[in-house]
Amino acid sequence: MSERLGATLATSSRSDRLPERSASPESGAGLCLRAMTASDLDEVMAIEQRIYPFPWTRGNFADSIASGYDMPVLEIAGRIAAYAVVMRGPDEVHLLNLSVDQPYQGRGLGRRLLEQLLRNAQLRGALGMLLEVRPSNTLACRLYRSMNFETIGVRRRYYPSWGGSREDAIVMRRSLCP
Ligand SMILES: CC(C)(COP(=O)(O)OP(=O)(O)OC[C@H]1O[C@@H](n2cnc3c(N)ncnc32)[C@H](O)[C@@H]1OP(=O)(O)O)[C@@H](O)C(=O)NCCC(=O)NCCS
Repeated sequence: MSERLGATLATSSRSDRLPERSASPESGAGLCLRAMTASDLDEVMAIEQRIYPFPWTRGNFADSIASGYDMPVLEIAGRIAAYAVVMRGPDEVHLLNLSVDQPYQGRGLGRRLLEQLLRNAQLRGALGMLLEVRPSNTLACRLYRSMNFETIGVRRRYYPSWGGSREDAIVMRRSLCP
């Protein structure tokens, strides 16, 4: 997801992130959706290091919290299973991070969380959602395409990669216009 964490966005209200309890990852049982706080950062950093070869830093998350970004956390039985970071712009929202912890991957949580983010953005009147993704992340690319994100550009040498090299980012956008 995004390498750049500019603190360019006005502080957001968190009132639209209502706690959500419903029915296992697959069925929705015991899931709780809430906002990330500084006290989550040890757990979040452990997940980042498990699931990304080039994880975000603790500072990236702390800056995101300080900037008032939307940072939903999906908990299962009191443990973080998934989270996201969304920066709100005047017309569009920018998905900076979407992460599902290893044991929960491939069980529908990523899609579910993204659907929730899209719904929230639409309710707020956003015209679209932007994101960056590594071309090598075929699973994530497949998820985004299946949710009607379209490629709108490429950022050259955007991500760090192996051996000190860089990897391009595919920039995708999903329109939220009815
Ligand atoms: C990418 C990620 C967010 C997807 O979340 P997820 O909960 O694992 O994915 P879901 O179970 O919701 O599946 C969504 C889609 O992804 C694809 N997918 C997920 N797991 C898959 C697997 N094991 N094999 C093949 N495709 C898979 C499928 O297209 C699936 O569509 P479907 O619902 O029609 O089957 C998650 O795997 C993750 O956090 N990966 C590591 C971090 C990362 O790459 N984040 C994205 C950065 S841009």
